[in-house]
Amino acid sequence: MNRFKKIISLMLILALGIVLGACGSGSGDTSSKGSSGGGDGLIYVGFVQVGAESDWRMANTKSMQDTFTEENGFKFEMVDAQQKTDKQITAIRDFIQKDVDYIVLAPNTEAGWDTVLGEAKEAGIPVIIVDRMIQTNDDSLFTAWVGSNFKQEGYDAVDALAKALENKGISPTEGEIKIVTLQGTMGSSAQIGRTDGFEEKMKEYPNWKMLDRQSGDFTQEKGQEVMESFLKSYPDIDVVIAENDNMAFGAINAIKTAGKTCGPEGDITIVSFDAVKAAFESMIAGDMDVSVECNPLHGPRVKGLIEKLEAGEDVDKIAYVEEEVFYAKDAADIIESREY
Ligand code: AHR
Repeated sequence: MNRFKKIISLMLILALGIVLGACGSGSGDTSSKGSSGGGDGLIYVGFVQVGAESDWRMANTKSMQDTFTEENGFKFEMVDAQQKTDKQITAIRDFIQKDVDYIVLAPNTEAGWDTVLGEAKEAGIPVIIVDRMIQTNDDSLFTAWVGSNFKQEGYDAVDALAKALENKGISPTEGEIKIVTLQGTMGSSAQIGRTDGFEEKMKEYPNWKMLDRQSGDFTQEKGQEVMESFLKSYPDIDVVIAENDNMAFGAINAIKTAGKTCGPEGDITIVSFDAVKAAFESMIAGDMDVSVECNPLHGPRVKGLIEKLEAGEDVDKIAYVEEEVFYAKDAADIIESREY
């Protein structure tokens, strides 16, 4: 049972005691419910995951599953919401019914959380948000958030593209550079931050032209589909910005199928986000130019937050993860050290 629920239970016991005392019954069971895990002493964590759309997401799920084990003192339950925000809302309500100790939410999209998180608050269940963020005017609806600065990643992608072009002998400031973007799930923080960050900072390069942007929903399959249609509409694309590695893999397939070339030695420059191991393989194979890191290893970070809350300590409301940018020329030296 988490600290907040313990306090509420103690208050209820006290109130019940007063009522029973006043009634003079002198009997009755006034004990509170034990640990939500059924009195097993474990901290019950309900994790509402986005889905299984990407290598990044799989690494994120593994990090949570590897961390929230019984050996570490947790009962862990995860719902895969298959990239549906309404499924996530239902999952939160189920976890409230199950009276978990903590709800950990990786929100699919940003909007529409106030009602259900209000219900969790009412039930005395702290909500920790990971990865993407929610839109709310009421900060009391969640206890803490840990994740990436997606807008910064968008800014970093602009610098990364300029450098990747230089690496292949193209001046980033001369001649028209024609770009298409494969966006992530529309309305998700990862999409909003990366799209906005890139759009804002690319103004530093008036010669860069955004031909088109469309969502590939963070999956390889949809990334490939969108890229196929881009290639039909725009015969002279110079750059693909893929808002995650898996969509970049799809784009690379589409480019090769269309008989075009990409990567450091190819015609189309590929800038991606996540820096999963397969992106390093793609860079080593000469297909991808650069990947902007997005770190999915949130399990230990969330565990740290819960441990502090259990100890009655304050936690940072907002915590950003540090991230790097990786270029094809360095990929072979770095790949072995990558954890995901
Ligand atoms: O929110 C993080 C993003 O979600 C990752 O970039 C992507 O791969 C995942 O699906």
